[in-house]
Amino acid sequence: MIIALNNKCNLTKQEFLKYQEELGKISTKNKVILCPTFLNISHFDLNNVELGAQNVSSNEQGAYTGEVSAQQLQSEQVKYCIVGHSERRKYQQETDEEINQKIIRLLECNIVPILCVGETKEEREKQLEKNIIEKELKKALENLTDEQKEKTIIAYEPIWSIGTGIIPTNNQIKEMFQTIKQLLPNNKVLYGGSANEENVVLLKEIEEIDGYLLGGLSLKPEKLKVFIEKLKN
Ligand code: PGA
Repeated sequence: MIIALNNKCNLTKQEFLKYQEELGKISTKNKVILCPTFLNISHFDLNNVELGAQNVSSNEQGAYTGEVSAQQLQSEQVKYCIVGHSERRKYQQETDEEINQKIIRLLECNIVPILCVGETKEEREKQLEKNIIEKELKKALENLTDEQKEKTIIAYEPIWSIGTGIIPTNNQIKEMFQTIKQLLPNNKVLYGGSANEENVVLLKEIEEIDGYLLGGLSLKPEKLKVFIEKLKN
């Protein structure tokens, strides 16, 4: 299983150093990927965890104030990078075309993209959820070779579930995973959206799930430990 931790815009340097100590105590055979803020990437110092980022520039380098390039991430030993998170699509108006460029930049630098897709509550009410994620997947992976596509990890994150405490039913998740796996049979697919140490008992019944993308829970090492233990049993 893959357990990707999205710290989002949290943890000062001091808080991050303390947090890392706690994270370092969790022992697991799962692949844990920590995605801190760009600044905290340079303070990363864990052996049992892989390093990820939360975003990357769609440009290789140059006059793009405030951006961080894939090459720069690579030079910090970043191995994974989240792209197309719904918060960036919403607050930074990130488009499918930009997300596609970001994925290309990452693959050029041997960084594995973790591509987030998911529908809003309104889209689900209109039963558009499958169309939405199919469109997001196709556009984000346009012009990639099959080999490049297969390297990308997909994270299905229903937007109405992120940070809300509400999770879809197991059947709803299964249906969405099957839709993704029909299009991309060889890709790893994660579930994200209010996954926690309690609902993991239900979630782990879904055999299509290859791992999790955790936001809120990533900030609580004690609860994260329980999550990982329950996943195993
Ligand atoms: P959450 O966030 O676990 O806090 O719902 C998940 C995410 O946004 O990646």
